[in-house]
Amino acid sequence: MYGNDFAPLLEQVDSAERDLHAASERTVEPGGELQEYFDAIVAADQKIEPRDWMPEAYRKTLIRQIAQHAHSEIIGMQPEGNWISRAPTLKRKAILLAKVQDEAGHGLYLYAAAETLGISREELVEMLIEGRQKYSSIFNYPTLTWADIGAIGWLVDGAAIVNQVPLCRCSYGPYARAMIRICKEESFHQRQGYEILHTLSHGTPAQREMAQDAVNRWWYPSLAMFGPPDGDSTHSERSMAWKIKRFTNDELRQRFVDMCVQQAGVLGLELPDPGLRWNDERGAHDYTQPDYDELMRVIKGEGPCNRQRMAHRRRAYEDGAWVREAAQKHAEKKAARKHAEKKAARV
Ligand SMILES: [Fe+2]
Ligand SMILES: [Fe+2]
Repeated sequence: MYGNDFAPLLEQVDSAERDLHAASERTVEPGGELQEYFDAIVAADQKIEPRDWMPEAYRKTLIRQIAQHAHSEIIGMQPEGNWISRAPTLKRKAILLAKVQDEAGHGLYLYAAAETLGISREELVEMLIEGRQKYSSIFNYPTLTWADIGAIGWLVDGAAIVNQVPLCRCSYGPYARAMIRICKEESFHQRQGYEILHTLSHGTPAQREMAQDAVNRWWYPSLAMFGPPDGDSTHSERSMAWKIKRFTNDELRQRFVDMCVQQAGVLGLELPDPGLRWNDERGAHDYTQPDYDELMRVIKGEGPCNRQRMAHRRRAYEDGAWVREAAQKHAEKKAARKHAEKKAARV
C-alpha cells in the first residue's frame, strides 16, 4: 500500500515460523555434558525450551531482555492512549483502540514468556514500578498532535518490527514463538501510522505541516531505539553467540534508515537529516547518528515524560489491586468447588 515495502519483513516472519516447525522435527542426540548439549541445540538452530538446562547467564539475559520488552509494550500504551478520546473520527478511534489493545496483548505474551524462565509476573511488574527494570526510552516523549499517532505507527512500530523480526529466530523457544505472533500484529500498526501520515501529508497545508513536524520530532528518538552504537553495546557479543540476537544495533539501524528513505519519498515528507544521502560504495545511506547522550539521559529517567509514565503505571497497578484480588478469590473458590465435586464423585 502506498509504496509500503514492509512485505519482505513479513515474509521473513513466515520463513522463521516454517523453520521453527522444521527444526522441531530434527533431533539432537542427548549425551555429553549439559553445556555441550545446550551448545549443540543452539548450533543446530533448534530451540531451548523451559525444561532444558541452560547457563544461568543465558537465563538472566533473557529475563532482562524479555521483561524490558514486555514493560515497553505496556508503558507504550500511554502516549497513544492519550489520543483515543481525541481521535478525529469514529473510525480512527476504533483503529487506535484496537492498536493500543494489541500492545496490551503483546505485554501479556511477553510476561508469559518470561515466566517460563522461573520468575513471576508480579515480580516483574514490581521491578518496573520500583525502577529496577527499564522500558524503551522512546515512550518518554510526548504525543503533542494527532500526527504523532501517525509518526509513532510509521517510525516507532516500524523500528520495532525491524528490531523484532530477527527475534523470531531467537534460540529460546517461548520468546521466538511470542515474537512471531507479535510481528504479524506489528505490521498492521506500522500500516495504520503510515496511512494516517499519508492522509495528512496529502491534506491541507496545515495538516501537511503537522505531519512534517511529527516526523521531525520522532525521527531521531526512533533511530535511538536500536540502542547504543556497536562499540558501546555491552550485551551484544554474548547475545549473538547464544543466537538471542542475530544482528548488531548498527546493522539494524542502517536497515531501518534505508527502508524509511523510500517510504518518506512516497509520503512526500522529509526526514530531518541534511546529512542523509546514498553511498554507492557501501550500498546504503549515510546518515547522522542520533544523540546517544540524550538516549542515556532518557534511559536514566530524565526524559520529558519519565515521571508521568511511571506515576501513571503505579496508579494503574494500585487501582487494579481489587481486580487481581477478586480474580484470585474466584479462582480459589472454583478450585475448591471442583475439588469437592471430585471428592463427592469418588464416594
Ligand atoms: Fe507491540
Ligand atoms: Fe505496535
